[in-house]
Amino acid sequence: MLHVNENYAKIKPTYLFAEIAHRVSAHMEANPEAKVIRLGIGDVTEPLCPAVVAAMHKAVDDEAGRANFHGYGPEQGYAFLREKIAKFDFQDRGMDIAADEILVSDGAKCDCGNIQELFGQDVRIAVGDPVYPVYVDTNVMAGRGDITLLPCTAENGFVPTPNDLPANGQPDIVYLCYPNNPTGAVATKMQLQAWVDWANDRKALILFDAAYEAFIRTPGIPHSIYECDGAKSCAIEFRSYSKTAGFTGVRCGYTVVPKGLCAYAADGTPVELRPMWTRRQTTKFNGASYITQRGAEAIYTPEGMAQTTATIDFYLGNAKLMREALQSLGYIVTGGSDSPYLWVDVKGDSWAFFDKLLKDANIVTTPGAGFGRAGEGFIRISAFNSRENVKEAIERLKGVL
Ligand code: MLT
Repeated sequence: MLHVNENYAKIKPTYLFAEIAHRVSAHMEANPEAKVIRLGIGDVTEPLCPAVVAAMHKAVDDEAGRANFHGYGPEQGYAFLREKIAKFDFQDRGMDIAADEILVSDGAKCDCGNIQELFGQDVRIAVGDPVYPVYVDTNVMAGRGDITLLPCTAENGFVPTPNDLPANGQPDIVYLCYPNNPTGAVATKMQLQAWVDWANDRKALILFDAAYEAFIRTPGIPHSIYECDGAKSCAIEFRSYSKTAGFTGVRCGYTVVPKGLCAYAADGTPVELRPMWTRRQTTKFNGASYITQRGAEAIYTPEGMAQTTATIDFYLGNAKLMREALQSLGYIVTGGSDSPYLWVDVKGDSWAFFDKLLKDANIVTTPGAGFGRAGEGFIRISAFNSRENVKEAIERLKGVL
């Protein structure tokens, strides 16, 4: 008998953004004239910056001739990119991360989902609630049901602390994401340091998703978990170029697994995670393409940095306009200043609010309930769109709210 993985029956049959896409398609079929504005899934709308485009064109030319042709690359990523990452994202910001602690991939979603393969079936997980669904769904698919939900509410500023953990049955792994998806909240250094200290005390692990770090503008807010003392012995960090440089379609990101970071065998022997993750990636992944990695490398040139910063500033400008408009309509809004996401308290059923905005205003958002029980009562609005569409969306919101 061919048995299925029955864990799949324990998750919703469709991924959150697939469900939203279905509803939007149905709405558009029923209303073919509607000009729908998409502020739902966090997908970028601005093109790749010129520095990246030029580097990718040059890489295509490399591939066109025998002299500079590249077939399979190193699964961990090319040294030219790993060295730039180590220097610009970490060492120049005072963090001691080396190029060989960085593994380049085709994006943070895959890495966040795949990393759980390194851990025992019995590990206990903690996640925020609401949360990016990938952390939960991938663990449930793998048969892990012991997941502690840490409520992220207006009362705790959407940042839970280790004190929110149950006294008994503390988790082995906690997922943290700051700036947060979906709430747009940021964590201070003190708040992150408390998690690092907790993890080091308990021999637990932090999986830190920093996909939105490039949106941080408030001085002093950490861009990386490694800004905290002791984080190298208890944390893995995921980074993405999707929102940083418009790579949602190109696909590239990386994961930092510090040397000496360990989990434990059944007899208590420490086992280093970096060789395990390397083994996993070299076995199941053939690396991000040469062309992609040359494009990513160009983000670190002076032109690339200036151009990507300008694009992020543009999205943050969208977020500011929408935040101010929603506040003027009387809504309480979190996020949108160090994050592309606005988390709006709609004081009611979030799917109903989503449907209302779709039906009455042709605006796509994301219902908070899709991110977990504590997301009910909120919707997430993304700032990824043109200025024209954002202004139009604001006018429509004023008309229906
Ligand atoms: C989101 O909208 O939450 C993100 O785009 C999803 C992702 O990055 O995978």
